[in-house]
Amino acid sequence: MTEGKPEALAGNVSLVHPCLMNILFIGDIFASGGRRIVADNLNRLISDHKIDLAIANGENAAGGFGITPLIAEELFGLGLDVLTGGNHSFDKREIHDYLGTQPRLLRPANYPPGLPGAGVYTGKARNGVAYAVLNLQGRAHMANTDCPFRKADELLVALDSSIKIRIVDFHAELTSEKMAMGWHLDGRATAMIGTHTHIPTADSRLLPGGTAYQTDAGMTGPYESVIGIDKDTILRRFLTGLTARMEAARRGVELHGAIIRADETTGKAIAIERVECAE
Ligand SMILES: [Fe+2]
Ligand SMILES: [Fe+2]
Repeated sequence: MTEGKPEALAGNVSLVHPCLMNILFIGDIFASGGRRIVADNLNRLISDHKIDLAIANGENAAGGFGITPLIAEELFGLGLDVLTGGNHSFDKREIHDYLGTQPRLLRPANYPPGLPGAGVYTGKARNGVAYAVLNLQGRAHMANTDCPFRKADELLVALDSSIKIRIVDFHAELTSEKMAMGWHLDGRATAMIGTHTHIPTADSRLLPGGTAYQTDAGMTGPYESVIGIDKDTILRRFLTGLTARMEAARRGVELHGAIIRADETTGKAIAIERVECAE
């Protein structure tokens, strides 16, 4: 793994172009190691890449399972603007009330009606540009939720047309479902970045309609593990079929994500590059 800043973004466009903005998306922050590497690198990433909007998936921030109000506040305090979620969003009881009071903490929009929180947030980035972040969850090998494709349509149509920058975290297991969502959103979202598998994919690209796409951002957490959990525990489960308490691993911590550059007047992405750093 390489350390430090990513290669120059494709497109060779000046970072100070008045109509361009830079968006950082960080993959699933896992347990204390994930939080630590974000704390150690976020300020540098924001300043080196002139980031106007910083988003991270936080569904595993509390020991690998869910997020607490205290941890959400800690992550916002580091400079993250929006936290997205996934199948672990509701793991911690104490987050349920907080979800109703902190609109910058999202959970997937296509869960059944009546649950606390929301799956879309609209705000103004550091450069004053209006944006929306949408959070959806896949249905293949996941819990039974409403259709994420139709929910995406519904949410996008409901957004004020003045909001051009639209970032989608699609939290899903299957690469095919995620690619399908990328095509479904092409030309209607600035970026669709996948989360949940905790494995970064090397397919960041611009779709023809102007949507930046990556199947999975990858985990921000301990890679000397099985998707974040102590590897010996998981191996024992595979070898014996017996379950055991799952603890977060601690070693091999890396940060993974993507930086998207977009035209703030049209909402179209003009570049996407993976970003990664290691402890
Ligand atoms: Fe995750
Ligand atoms: Fe997940």
